[in-house]
Amino acid sequence: MGKKPKIIYSCENCGHLEYKWVGKCPACQEWGTLHEEVEGENGEELASLSSFQQPQILNRVKTDNSIRIGTGLNEFDRLLGGGIVSGSVLLLVGDPGIGKSTLSLIIAGNIARDGTVLYVSGEESAEQTKIRADRLGSFPDSLYVVSETNLELIQKHIESLQPQLVIVDSIQSVFVSSLRSTPGSPSQVKESTFFLTKIAKQSGIPVILIGQVTKESLLAGPRILEHLVDTVIYLEGDRNNSLRVARVVKNRYGSTEEVALFEMTGRGLEEVSNPSEYLLENRSLSEPGSVIVATARGTRPIFTEIQALVTETAEGIPPRQIAVGVDRNRLLLVTAVLQRWIGERLSNKNIFVSIAGGIESDDPALDLGIAASLISSERGVTFNQKIFFLGELALSGEVRPTPEVPKLLIEGKRLGFEDCILSQRSIIKNKMLPDLKLRGIEHLRGLIKMLPEISREEQVSRFK
Ligand code: TYD
Ligand code: MG
Repeated sequence: MGKKPKIIYSCENCGHLEYKWVGKCPACQEWGTLHEEVEGENGEELASLSSFQQPQILNRVKTDNSIRIGTGLNEFDRLLGGGIVSGSVLLLVGDPGIGKSTLSLIIAGNIARDGTVLYVSGEESAEQTKIRADRLGSFPDSLYVVSETNLELIQKHIESLQPQLVIVDSIQSVFVSSLRSTPGSPSQVKESTFFLTKIAKQSGIPVILIGQVTKESLLAGPRILEHLVDTVIYLEGDRNNSLRVARVVKNRYGSTEEVALFEMTGRGLEEVSNPSEYLLENRSLSEPGSVIVATARGTRPIFTEIQALVTETAEGIPPRQIAVGVDRNRLLLVTAVLQRWIGERLSNKNIFVSIAGGIESDDPALDLGIAASLISSERGVTFNQKIFFLGELALSGEVRPTPEVPKLLIEGKRLGFEDCILSQRSIIKNKMLPDLKLRGIEHLRGLIKMLPEISREEQVSRFK
């Protein structure tokens, strides 16, 4: 009785515990992520929250609660693998101002057309939520909003309303009153997530948690929460640009390779149902370094632009390789292969490669396109507009076949492309391919041989 609480320090990024404060977490090496907590609280609370359950015969476990609820947004449903699974907890993470509240309010409104939805706003008043809603259009009367941060009270609202869906905006703003740590502290965030997960599992009511996260200061590191929830979606984008990309990074009920695109407009977030058309529309006119690539991760093919810029380094300054959206390791591999097999002089150059539209991909099928964009920038040649690239590079310089080639070629033709440069083996493997001009190559050298046919030297003088 009356045991004096002991202070410990927990890392908000990885959950590591220390008895003394240190500037740098010894476990994950992040700086300034350790925060004060009261020892023991967490464990005791977790124990008191779990309830005693009888083991059941597996064959007799009822699964009728795993029904999916459509969000009214086709793109979002596809991202989830067909809607929100009942009793599941979804964490929607993103930078402040990116559109999390807007997106979840739209979903709340759509689901409220068929049932009750409770929107818990811990960050804004009910009036502020109404002002946002007015921008988005009209909402049914079955959408309820409460500005509350105390989870025990939120639980009472959930019990009395019995909604179809609960949205908690945000997980950093709510708290369990039995825990002394402040809202937003790692232990509160963990505990609050646990509390809501338990409600979701017991009642079958799905919960969307909104997580305010910035890359620089991970307010309660998503890594701690990721294993507590069923689905994690990142909403990303450049704030100066209206495109938003939603990516699934964890999904207990579906694939994690899907992306969905949205556009932030004056009337909320609108779905971009054909991302390839959208991304290609904003393509910069054929310049050296720009190529079109296709990727088939997830259920839907995506065509987008890769841009490369190869520049001389200033004397005495080591060269840099910067990858935005493409995987840096793949970029380094492609660079090494280009140097080794076709003697492209890249070792003392600065290399920048980026993929349009905030897409992030480590798909090896982009390798050939990355190689083509580097060659194009380095040699000052532009590729014909109607060509796209598809192929993985082996360390030997071989161009390897990639999955889903027929699907990508059909989509490429639909988008108006005329030529595809791909692995010769992809052509042999797949019979019946659409009538595009398929230029199969076995080795990167094949691409160099083909250059005069598919590209032209830049007309304007080069600044060297
Ligand atoms: P918000 O959903 O509040 O972001 P988050 O919850 O992730 O912090 O979105 C805020 C931004 O979106 C804000 O800059 C205004 C803009 N916005 C629109 O452009 N159109 C709209 O219809 C709405 C509601 C917001
Ligand atoms: Mg918000």
